[in-house]
Amino acid sequence: MGVKDKIRRVLPKQVMYQYYLRSAKKACLPDLKRRVHDKVYNDSKAEKVKRNLTLAYHIVEKGLTMPEPRPGFGRAVVLDLGRTIFEYDSMKLPQTELEFKQSVSVLKEYKAFHKQIGFQLDEEVQQMLDKVEISYQTIEGDKQLHISKDDYFSAINEPFDHFCKSRYSVRNYTTEEIPLEVLYECIDLAQKSPSFCNRQPSRVHIVKSPEKKEQILAIQNGNRGFGHLAETLLVITSIISTTKDIHERNENHLNGGMFSMTLLNALHFKKIGACSLNWSVSEDREIKMRKLLNLAANEIPLLIISCGYVPNELAIASSPRKTAREITQSHI
Ligand SMILES: Cc1cc2nc3c(=O)[nH]c(=O)nc-3n(C[C@H](O)[C@H](O)[C@H](O)COP(=O)(O)O)c2cc1C
Repeated sequence: MGVKDKIRRVLPKQVMYQYYLRSAKKACLPDLKRRVHDKVYNDSKAEKVKRNLTLAYHIVEKGLTMPEPRPGFGRAVVLDLGRTIFEYDSMKLPQTELEFKQSVSVLKEYKAFHKQIGFQLDEEVQQMLDKVEISYQTIEGDKQLHISKDDYFSAINEPFDHFCKSRYSVRNYTTEEIPLEVLYECIDLAQKSPSFCNRQPSRVHIVKSPEKKEQILAIQNGNRGFGHLAETLLVITSIISTTKDIHERNENHLNGGMFSMTLLNALHFKKIGACSLNWSVSEDREIKMRKLLNLAANEIPLLIISCGYVPNELAIASSPRKTAREITQSHI
C-alpha cells in the first residue's frame, strides 16, 4: 500500500472531503474565471451580435418546421431578429457572413409562409419584414427542407460523406413504437465511440412511460411544439466515478458528446428521426431529473435525445454550417 493510500485510510471522511473540495475548487477556478471574464469584459460586439442572430434565426427556423406551425408564431423573436439584423448592418460587418445571410433568409421565409397561408401578420411585424426584404433583396440563405420520409433516409446506405450530410435534427414523429431491440442495436453502435482509456462512462435511460416523458419534457427548455410527439426519450448520462481526479472533470461530457453523436448517426441509420435536447438546467431541475430516473449519486445527466419514426412528409430546419476554412486555423 502506497503512502497516499495509508493516509487516506486513517483520515476521517469529512477531512478528506474538505481536502478534495479545496483542490477541486482550485482546479475549476481558472475555467470559471475565464467564463465570467468573457461575460464581463469581452466587448466583441461582432461576436455577440452574431450569437444573437443565430439564437433568434434558429428559433424561427424551428418554428417554420414544427409539425403544426402556429400562424403568427414567435412575434417577439421575429421583431428582435429584425432589429438585430439592422444592428449588425449598422456595424458595417460583412453581409456574406452565414449568421447574417441566414437571418435575412429566415425572415423572408417567415413572411412567405404567412402570405401562403393567408394570415395577416400584425402591422409592426409586417413593416419590419417588408423593410428586411427591401433592404436585402439579393441576400439568400438556406431554405427549410420539405421532404418525404423516403428522400430523407435515401442516403443511409451511401458512402460516409453522403450519409453524414443527410442527417438532420428531426422534430416530427409518428406514434409507431420503436422496438426496444432496435434501440439496443443503436446503443451498441454508440458504444463503438472512443472513450478515455476505454473507460466507457456513458449510460442511456430509455424512457417510454408517457408520464415520465411528460415530466422530463416539462423541465427541459427547447422541445415546445414537438417534444410531446416523441415516442421515446433517450437520456444520456455519465458515471463520474470513471474519472480519477479533478483534472478529468470534462471527460464525462466530452465522452458523452462523442457517444451521443454516434447514437444520433445510428438512429438515422435505422430510419429513426431524432433531436438532441440540451440539458443546460438549473439545480432544481437537475434534482427533479435525478428523482425521475432514480439516478445514482455518481451518475450525471448530459443530454436528452427525442426519437420517433417519422411521418411520410416532414419539414426540417436547414441549420446551415460555416465552412471548414471559416472555422479552421492552420499551424503549419
Ligand atoms: C447539445 C445540443 C443541445 C441541443 N438542444 C436542442 C434543444 O433543446 N431543442 C432543439 O430543438 N434542438 C436542440 N439541439 C439541436 C440543434 O438545434 C441542431 O443540432 C443544430 O441546429 C444543427 O442542426 P442539425 O442537427 O439538423 O444538423 C441541440 C443540439 C445539441 C448538439
